[in-house]
Formats: sequence, structure tokens, C-alpha cells
Amino acid sequence: MGVIGVLTAGGDCPGLNAVIRGVVGRAIEHDIEVVGITNGWEGLIRDRTRRLDRQAVRGILGRGGTILGTSRMDPYVHGDGRASCDATLKRNGIDTLVVIGGDGTLRTAMRLADEGVSVIGVPKTIDNDIAGTDITFGFQTAVQIATDAIDRLTTTAEAHNRVIIVEVMGRTKGWIATEAGIAGGADYIIIPEYPYDVEEVAATLRKRHRNGHHYSIVVVAEGVEAPPGYAPLDLKKDAFGFDRLGGVSYQIADAIEDLTTFETRVSILGHIQRGGTPVASDRVLASRLGVKAADLAPAGATNVMVAVRGPDIVAVPIEEATSSIRGVPEELYRTAATFYG
Ligand code: F6P
Repeated sequence: MGVIGVLTAGGDCPGLNAVIRGVVGRAIEHDIEVVGITNGWEGLIRDRTRRLDRQAVRGILGRGGTILGTSRMDPYVHGDGRASCDATLKRNGIDTLVVIGGDGTLRTAMRLADEGVSVIGVPKTIDNDIAGTDITFGFQTAVQIATDAIDRLTTTAEAHNRVIIVEVMGRTKGWIATEAGIAGGADYIIIPEYPYDVEEVAATLRKRHRNGHHYSIVVVAEGVEAPPGYAPLDLKKDAFGFDRLGGVSYQIADAIEDLTTFETRVSILGHIQRGGTPVASDRVLASRLGVKAADLAPAGATNVMVAVRGPDIVAVPIEEATSSIRGVPEELYRTAATFYG
């Protein structure tokens, strides 16, 4: 009998609880104990833990957020790496750490593995931009939320003959924008991976209006650059030094309104895309990833991450996830353009 320690770090994401439940459920089958570490790496540094048995994970499958809490603390930024975690690992008898997090968290997990801690990563982000896996849990929920918003904004845009810009999350990549844009029938999608020309956006919208459709939906990924002539936004930084993105759509709206004279409004969806219950496919994916992580632990796996490859859940080196950020392929992005105009 061994002990798995599990933690969730970084921003939350729909499906975190389903992963935790998957780890606990399968660990029990392997006769392994699970210790939940609260508030991400902070709990590991400060020894804040609680036993997770079957009872502790009942009723959490469809719940958003994370029952363990999360934080932006990092043992290499706020401590001495492994040395800051050793006391907690020893006191709880933890043999394997299951770390559920995005690329920054996985990078930290890899460093701990290099220092001899057995670590299994579970990639997490609504942005769907982690390399080494076909998809991340939480993404499909974010796409559904954004699609529902586009559907609602379309009817009000139509009623008022307006252009509405829907700004979605995704950090430096445009996965949510592209898929929600296709699903919601957007009239233009702007993402960081492919440069945009605001004059061409305006021309596309004018053509659409000439064709008798006097309203349009433009989906903008939060990470795109300001249009020419507009200064880059003066953004605050988060705890990791990343820009707190949001707001470029106001500049794009201004440019579109100037070029077309169409009234152009902005709706920034923000954290609503991360909140609430995960869609069914994310619950299934998150459960499978959690179960696989618990399966890998007794075999002594370390420095690996569970990942989606076609129909399978496999183990890949964490390094694959941290070596690059996965962008939207051109073929997918261009699919959306088929329906413009
Ligand atoms: O990485 C997930 C994400 O939701 C991004 O899409 C977004 O830019 C960022 O996190 C927001 O982070 P925070 O919750 O720290 O503002």
C-alpha cells in the first residue's frame, strides 16, 4: 500500500474535481491511500493536507472549481524547491505526487521530478494549448459557454442591427475563439496565431451587410494585438508575471466602427468561461485522466503526464508539454472563413 498526494495549482478549470475523484476512485482499487494537498503548492510547502477517501469525493463529479483549492504559489519562487516540500511529503508518507495544472505548474512538477520526487502530471487548461496532448479537459466546457453566449448575442445584435465583438479567453492561443466561433456561426474570428487586417475585417462585414444581413458577430481571442494606430494596452501582471489579458476588443470595435460606420459593441466573457459545471465530455475526459494517473502510480512512473492520443489515454514525458505552446492549425482556422460574408 502506498500513498498518492494530489494537488491542483494555477487557475481553476471545469473538471478538476472529476480528475480528483478519478484518482481517488482508482487508487482505492489499487489499495493506495490518497492525501489531498490544499491550495496547490502552498499546501505542500505549509503541510496543509486532508485524507481523501471515497466519501470525500462523493457528489463532486459535476462541480466546478476544485475541492482542494488552488493558489499561485510555487516552491521554486516562494521556497527552496524540493527542500520546502520534503517535510510534508515525509509526514504524509507520500510516494507519488499527482499534480493537476497548466504548463507553469507542469514545469514546476518537472523540476521536482529532477530532484527525485515521483511526479505524475495531469494537464489542465481551458485554453487547450498544452503540447503533448490532443486536448485538455475544461476546454470543451469553455467552448460551450462561449457558444451559448454567441447565440444570445446574435439575437440582440440582429434586433439592433449592430456588430457585436465577443472577446473570449485563451491567453496567447485562439482555440476557444476558433471553436466557439465556428459553433456559433461567427462572421469573423480574430486569433493571435494569424495576423489580421482590420480593413479586411471591415470589408467582410460590409459585404455581409450588403447581402442583407445587417448585424454581425466578431469573435476575438483576448491575446490578439491592437489594430494599427492603437497603442498596446497597459496590462497589469499576474502572480507569474503574465499579462492579465482583456480589453483589446474595445480598440478593434473602435476601428471597425470608424471603417464601417456600423454601431459596434463589445462583450467580454471573462471568467464565466471557467466557472460552473463541466460538460459531459469534460467529465468523461477528466475522469479518464485521473484514473490513468492512479494506474501509473503503483508502477513507479515519474516525470510523466497523462495525455490524450486519439482514443487513448497514455503517459508521455512532462517535457513534451513544457517544450512548446500548441496553437490552432491553419486548416481549422480557415474552416471558419468558409462561412464569412
Ligand atoms: O489559462 C487560463 C486562463 O483562463 C486564460 O484563458 C486567461 O488569460 C487567464 O487564465 C486568466 O487568469 P486569471 O484567472 O489569473 O485572471
